[in-house]
Amino acid sequence: MLTRPWRTGIAQAARLAVLTALLAAGAAAAGETPPKAAVATAHPLATQAAREILDDGGNAFDAAVAASAALAVVEPYASGLGGGGFWLLHQADNGQSVMIDGREEAPGAAGRDMYVDDSGKKIPRLSLDGPMAAGIPGEPAALAHIARRYGRLPLARSLAPAIRLARDGFPVDATFRRMAGFRKNLLKRFPAARQVFLDQGEVPAAGTLLKQPALARTLETLARKGRAGFYQGRVARLLVDSVREAGGIWSLDDLKGYRVVEREPVVFDYRGLKVTSAAPPSAGGIGLATMLHILEGYDLSALSRPLRIHYVVEAMRRAYRDRARFLGDPDFVDIPRERLTSRAYAKRLRSNIRPDRATPSEDLPAPQEGHHTTHLSIIDTEGNRVAATLSVNYPFGSGFVAGDTGVVLNDEMDDFAARPGKPNVYGLVGGEPNAIRPGKRPLSSMSPTFVEDGRRVGILGTPGGSRIVTMVLLGILSFENGAPPETWVSLPRYHHQYLPDVIQHEPGAFSPETASALREMGYKLKSVGRRYGDMQAILWDRAAGTVQAASDPRGQGRAAVFAEKPARKTAAGQ
Ligand code: DON
Repeated sequence: MLTRPWRTGIAQAARLAVLTALLAAGAAAAGETPPKAAVATAHPLATQAAREILDDGGNAFDAAVAASAALAVVEPYASGLGGGGFWLLHQADNGQSVMIDGREEAPGAAGRDMYVDDSGKKIPRLSLDGPMAAGIPGEPAALAHIARRYGRLPLARSLAPAIRLARDGFPVDATFRRMAGFRKNLLKRFPAARQVFLDQGEVPAAGTLLKQPALARTLETLARKGRAGFYQGRVARLLVDSVREAGGIWSLDDLKGYRVVEREPVVFDYRGLKVTSAAPPSAGGIGLATMLHILEGYDLSALSRPLRIHYVVEAMRRAYRDRARFLGDPDFVDIPRERLTSRAYAKRLRSNIRPDRATPSEDLPAPQEGHHTTHLSIIDTEGNRVAATLSVNYPFGSGFVAGDTGVVLNDEMDDFAARPGKPNVYGLVGGEPNAIRPGKRPLSSMSPTFVEDGRRVGILGTPGGSRIVTMVLLGILSFENGAPPETWVSLPRYHHQYLPDVIQHEPGAFSPETASALREMGYKLKSVGRRYGDMQAILWDRAAGTVQAASDPRGQGRAAVFAEKPARKTAAGQ
């Protein structure tokens, strides 16, 4: 494990120190600890797994390990041992927050032009389908690390629900069927994937018990041996052999060398709210700081809806422009973090926003340079909290199941800029800072986030490819308005990512009047055809002494608020 510090500017640091002191004073005056625990995940069986671990005396961190591992089994299209993610942790006893970076890494034999042919064209699908698309996974190392350093229970205990689900099976649901249908032809290509996820080459019927015995064995090895059980020994050999046989470039050294990195989250204040979010290699925290600092210049609540959307979209446009220009793996590129998160910079970006008109992306005065993925939010009755966004990238990742491991490999390599200036599968245009290098981590949008004022604590995050950061932004603005988590997860969504220069939105997100007002300001609107995202959110109101949780109505997730069984507090109690 490596620790990489993040330094905020002095003024920002001083402001945050004052805010943190105020929040702490508020906390002391109000409820010190939540009256109930809460879990919100993208699948009822993962919520159940987390609850089982909390009831067994685990803390929020153990519960996050259990939920992450359970999601790896019951949402194999979304995240898993063959993928990675960011786990944002807050420890109640010392007030510290940390981001566990378990993002995938480019293998040692990767190179900047590995997805480009001799004539300079991107080779279709190579960064999305099959083992060439897979980065070295981070999730197994992250789970072992979280359990050992932050958990209270042994890793084997927290992995037990996932092992059971893999061994005994779970009933195929509608989301699984939709995702498997989407990637059916790919899954058919790889024998192990075909055997586990398809039924004679077809999507299994709803209710079919899907058993994953090989994955259960891999999870058991991880439970017994910790990270070495995945990154060294039999499992590592199986992974590397099957990847290489199928034309991939992984090596045993790549696996052995993988390290979890602990990073200081991006922390900033916005109108008296303290926001804690993902640090690079996520673009989330910096993007949120840029957008919210731009928005500090407007009294959003006093504006008509079209104008409010106008300013929010202009903030999105500018932050996504900077994402392409500046952001990448911080261990490889120098990111001007202080500048990008400073108020002075936001003021400059704000200065060319017109009050009545869209700014065409091509006119920005500077050079130009995806229900898969999953999220979980947890709080325990001590006040420990976790927001974690995990991924294998595209549905079922690369579609490749490695040998006899049952592990679905990611296709996170597509999050790199394979050809700077050209869009990836989410239409994101990346720049040189996100070019491929051996051992480098691809830039991500995953943005697990905490937001707090003196009274309330919010925990939120969502999948959704390039739209993740703007969904979290809308969630924070809704928190600011005093809305409950049901509203954050269900409100209509819109998004702008600089290029393409359109407001993407859910069907029905805008009334006809709002849509025409936006068009008059010069915006192009594009319905994305369906609702997107799968936000999982928790709100602890210290003053009211309440905990609420909500799961996005777009998905099949489950939110639960419950009293932990008092087993560990009254030793005799069950
Ligand atoms: O890290 C990222 O930004 C992407 N791999 C996330 C992909 C995603 O959210 C797909 N979800 N619908």
